[in-house]
Amino acid sequence: MKLVGIVGSNADFSYNRLLLQYIKKHFKSFVDIEILEIKDIPLFNQSHDQTNSAPIQKLNRKILAADGVIIATPEHNHTIPAGLKSVLEWLSFKIQPLSNKPVMLVGASYYDQGSSRAQLHLRQILEAPGVNAIVMPGNEFLLGKVKEAFDEQNNLKEQGTTDFLQTCLEKFVKFIKVVSSINEPQKDLSAEEDLEATGKIDTTIEGVDMSAEDWVEQASEKIDAVQGDTYVKLNRGILTVNQLNALLASMPMELTFADSNNQFLFYNYTEDKEEMFAGRVPGQVGNPLANCHPPATYKNVKWVLSQLRHGNEDVVRIHVPTHGPDKYVVHSYQAMHDDTGNYMGVNEYVLDFQPIIDWYLQQTGQRLAKDETVEVDATSSASKKQEEVDSVSGASEQATSEVDSVSSASESADVDSVSSASIKS
Ligand SMILES: Cc1cc2nc3c(=O)[nH]c(=O)nc-3n(C[C@H](O)[C@H](O)[C@H](O)COP(=O)(O)O)c2cc1C
Repeated sequence: MKLVGIVGSNADFSYNRLLLQYIKKHFKSFVDIEILEIKDIPLFNQSHDQTNSAPIQKLNRKILAADGVIIATPEHNHTIPAGLKSVLEWLSFKIQPLSNKPVMLVGASYYDQGSSRAQLHLRQILEAPGVNAIVMPGNEFLLGKVKEAFDEQNNLKEQGTTDFLQTCLEKFVKFIKVVSSINEPQKDLSAEEDLEATGKIDTTIEGVDMSAEDWVEQASEKIDAVQGDTYVKLNRGILTVNQLNALLASMPMELTFADSNNQFLFYNYTEDKEEMFAGRVPGQVGNPLANCHPPATYKNVKWVLSQLRHGNEDVVRIHVPTHGPDKYVVHSYQAMHDDTGNYMGVNEYVLDFQPIIDWYLQQTGQRLAKDETVEVDATSSASKKQEEVDSVSGASEQATSEVDSVSSASESADVDSVSSASIKS
């Protein structure tokens, strides 16, 4: 682990320098520290840009190359010395080497609580957007009464002080690892999604051609699947298979399930393909997802699945506008997990929100108004996502069916008068 230690004093003699030298020497088997000085750095002056001067560039390079930075600050007039503040101004002006860099603070001063106020200020300064360092929380190491703290060999006299310093340093090493994992760019794992469902999971029904028109019949026979009035114990309840079917069919949305092997296993079939927002046919069930989407959409399908599988998103929602202005059809790709959090597959539900919005507005006596503060940018990522989703769902290929928002509104009104009556009674 490569660290740099910045001496916060520009004086020829500095206890903070002594402290950093002690840390470097005493913990050399644990961390590799290079001590950097600020005494050659000119006073910050915005009108006289010296960012490219040798001492500032040296500091810049060393900080950039380090895994973490320790700053040892004196306390002057309840804050950090002007020299150190000046350095931080240079490091936030044209260059930002401390940006996202893990930083640990230490300080030595003449008095009991000396450097605690300086450290507090330093923390605030380092977290300013221009500096943007990531300062380790807590673990404030302050060396009070510093004139009596070192022996003739410049070692700390008190073992307890060294022990606490070691604890802080160990935590800083862990902190650096955490911060670096946060800073790491997220790997795009979508290429690994196997849309052909060639893998096998515990629940995969083997020995049946996935693309057979009668996959459901063949597979259910193979595993002797229960049906009809046979009871199934669920969490929380018991239903017959017929009741379960009726329940799923009554859900006011198109429900689809593909397992973690990317095999399409279920949809709540009630309507012909032409009547659906996302058309499906009974013979599609059992197919690998590759057979359910045109090849041109594979990249986007893989992206959505990968987001869900790796927990980047719990749900990916895509508005598909091709069903006409009187509908607000959204495809929601919802990740499913077992009791221990393992990814089980995706529940895609397709729902026209418009009747719900209409009902809500009617119930509350409100109207929609455009929010002028929100810019809808045609080139925004939102609209990009839209294209992605369109191609995921193949929405442009879907036939649009009409939803009678008037009738659903009046139906809602009936429901409301019933419910408000019961509330009143
Ligand atoms: C101008 C000036 C102001 C100081 N103000 C404080 C102060 O506010 N609080 C404090 O504890 N020590 C203060 N001190 C004493 C410092 O504790 C001491 O100079 C410094 O922290 C020791 O670190 P150094 O040897 O690395 O410079 C001040 C010293 C100077 C020169």
